[in-house]
Amino acid sequence: MILVTGGAGFIGANFVLDWLAGGGEPVLNLDALTYAGNLETLASVDGDPAHRFVHGDICDRALLERLLAEHRPRAIVHFAAESHVDRSIHGPGAFVRTNVEGTFTLLEAARAYWSALPQGEREAFRFLHVSTDEVYGSLGPDDPAFTETKTYEPNSPYSASKAASDHLVRAWHHTYGLPVLTTNCSNNYGPFQFPEKLIPLMIVNALAGKPLPVYGDGLNVRDWLYVGDHCSAIRTVLAHGRVGETYNVGGWNEITNLDIVHSLCALLDELRPDAAGSHARLITHVTDRPGHDRRYAIDARKIEHELGWKPAQTFATGIRKTVQWYLDNPRWVANVQSGAYRDWVARNYAAREAGR
Ligand code: NAD
Ligand code: TYD
Repeated sequence: MILVTGGAGFIGANFVLDWLAGGGEPVLNLDALTYAGNLETLASVDGDPAHRFVHGDICDRALLERLLAEHRPRAIVHFAAESHVDRSIHGPGAFVRTNVEGTFTLLEAARAYWSALPQGEREAFRFLHVSTDEVYGSLGPDDPAFTETKTYEPNSPYSASKAASDHLVRAWHHTYGLPVLTTNCSNNYGPFQFPEKLIPLMIVNALAGKPLPVYGDGLNVRDWLYVGDHCSAIRTVLAHGRVGETYNVGGWNEITNLDIVHSLCALLDELRPDAAGSHARLITHVTDRPGHDRRYAIDARKIEHELGWKPAQTFATGIRKTVQWYLDNPRWVANVQSGAYRDWVARNYAAREAGR
């Protein structure tokens, strides 16, 4: 049995679904079901005896202790987090609470559990912390891609809270010997992503004939990885990663936001043509995000050379699957666009001036 935190969110749920599809080892899935957690994503494993869902908070130490004692997992894969940069600008408190205090609480519960395990189980135990490339800060156009030894220079409340959690994980290994692994991955996209992030937001807006809000000049660069490839990287690191090491995970796909939006429009023009004209007519430049990081790029050679992991999808294959998934799942999309979602869209976009 493994314990997954945040397994009702975008990446965590994809991980749980892939894990259960790939074998019989059970998953205990702990998730607080914030706005980003969605049990509908897990509907296909409802009733599967290998999936046990617990509605709860990683800040709840007593709950964590009870779950660990009862289920005796051999590993913890820690996804639970507040994950959206724009939300962290509007309300950083939740990010410090979940990402910093929550990770601290989980580490302490894991340490107490792990140190009382019999020797063989103690040696085999792993705590895998899922983190982001955003902790490394922003690159200039000619800077080399992030390696695992790049200094941490987080710029947003989100990335600062993730950097703090990475430091706690590192310290729990160096000080207490907790067998940790950390992955720092680039921007993910794929099925079941909440439409507040760039790619699903642009798809759902384009389908609704709404403006496609590109922040600033749209020339910020991100590295993009299909979510299934991130999940396979995590499984690889969990199985074969060296204890105490960090592994950067990326897709070798550096793309500007504007190019992403144009490629989405081209795919939608092909798969769901609009009589009113190309979806690209909806592209609108809006006021930039404060402190907007210019460029992220991942050097993923360590995980490839040490562990033999490589992404299976190119951007062209992954983005086509993703657009097709959103076209095929209008009910999932409609259900997440609840009242709370509409409030967020009003708050984040109303104050942004168009035409900037
Ligand atoms: P998400 O926001 O879609 O999901 C987060 C999940 O965590 C939700 O199900 C939510 O209910 C749960 N959660 C939040 N607070 C909790 C708490 N206090 N206790 C228990 N559960 C709680 O996020 P995601 O995009 O799936 O990201 C998952 C992890 O991967 C995060 O740690 C994130 O930092 C990291 N990551 C994300 C990306 C990306 O592109 N999305 C890239 C690299 C790393
Ligand atoms: P996002 O998906 O929020 O991920 P992150 O900020 O963690 O990289 O945004 C990806 C890029 O897209 C980022 O440079 C901000 C930009 N963006 C827009 O231009 N418009 C939008 O409406 C959103 C949500 C993001």
